[in-house]
Amino acid sequence: MSQGNLACRVCGGRLAEFFDFGRQPLSDAFLTPDDIDEEFFYQLTVGACESCTMVQLTEEVPRDRMFHEDYPYHSSGSATMRQHFEQLAKHLIDTELSGRDPFIVEIGCNDGVMLRQISKAGIRHLGVDPSGGVTRLAMADGVRVLTDFFEESLAEAVLADEGPADVIYAANTICHIPYLDSVFRGVDLLLKPDGVFIFEDPSFGDIIERNSFDQIYDEHFYFFTLRSVQAMAERMGFELVDAERLPVHGGEIRYTLARKGRRRPSARVAELTAAERVLDLAAPATLERFAAAVRNIRQDLTRLLEDLRAEGKRVVGYGATAKSATVTNYCGIGPGLIPYVCDTTPAKHGKLMPGSHIPVLPAEALAEPFPDYALLFAWNHAEEIMAKEQAFREAGGRWILYTPKVHIL
Ligand code: SAM
Ligand code: TMP
Ligand code: ZN
Repeated sequence: MSQGNLACRVCGGRLAEFFDFGRQPLSDAFLTPDDIDEEFFYQLTVGACESCTMVQLTEEVPRDRMFHEDYPYHSSGSATMRQHFEQLAKHLIDTELSGRDPFIVEIGCNDGVMLRQISKAGIRHLGVDPSGGVTRLAMADGVRVLTDFFEESLAEAVLADEGPADVIYAANTICHIPYLDSVFRGVDLLLKPDGVFIFEDPSFGDIIERNSFDQIYDEHFYFFTLRSVQAMAERMGFELVDAERLPVHGGEIRYTLARKGRRRPSARVAELTAAERVLDLAAPATLERFAAAVRNIRQDLTRLLEDLRAEGKRVVGYGATAKSATVTNYCGIGPGLIPYVCDTTPAKHGKLMPGSHIPVLPAEALAEPFPDYALLFAWNHAEEIMAKEQAFREAGGRWILYTPKVHIL
């Protein structure tokens, strides 16, 4: 499958493709029946750079198609994530933001799930996020936001208006941005000489370990490893000074970058880097193993759903996640196998899932009446969801999961 002529978006090195999911719809483009004829598709193929090892998509979807007024993902929808960001805000307030008149900029602040804590503490802050629907929610909560894309020119304007930042922070956003050179130049402009750039994103190591191929979709342009982040940081005049594994969203890493030579790297950087090296994440053999596992999951999942249908069992989906677009469309799962998907996000209710056109209903629809099985697309929120839906288990319902392999709980 390797084409050999694709270039790495970060360093220009040769990109070796290792998986092709075919034509895919935008993962967060939930449809009304009227939209079906105009549905947008792109080629979802993923490769690893043979030079800097950065794992990335080979086709970039225009950013305005993904991040706009109707972007449906609301960060505050998960209690676990609210708690996660509260903890981080507290930590930042006690550490990096404890000096005189500190200033923090968040890239991709969404509905203000993190910055509202900072705002409550009376700390100078600015969120930057292009999706107007969610930024209005943040503003209603007392968060200052610019509804725009972060890039070099925007950083220049923020610097002129607000002065330099002590911290630039981003969660689940930096991996969404193909134009990282511009982002880094912007960070370099806007950050104080001793400031830190902190970002957390899904870790490719966890994706490989858990076969969580559904983390691969339009919005996730990059899949970071410590090694590829270190290489990228160095090219841009920064270095990795801390790294921390996080349990959220199926396994993430929080990276802390500072300008080269400004801070002493923590012991964790060396420890985690050594542990990662053992996994040989960018090696062709590792990537081929992953590809084979993904093909097996497709085969096992479609077989299971077809068998259950033949037995007359009812199966519904749970969690109309962005990730589920890759699963349903790659595996060919439509309303014939899963009549509907339950989800708590009001903006998704009554809409159709991208590509598969499976209807999305409120979470309460799970109980009307309880199905025999629920396919858990929001597996990253498994604990929270299973605790909430205990009545489903008590009624004899069983959960179907598909990572690291297809299994029933
Ligand atoms: N930080 C939140 C969290 O972790 O829950 C939101 C993550 S959400 C998956 C990604 C967010 O990044 C969206 O709200 C999107 O609008 C925003 N985004 C995408 N490109 C951006 C850019 N260039 N600058 C700032 N925000 C961006
Ligand atoms: P995410 O995987 O991108 O965080 O998206 C999670 C999706 O799952 C989102 O559409 C909301 C939905 N969800 C529920 O339906 N019930 C829940 O309890 C949680 C935490 C999420
Ligand atoms: Zn590269």
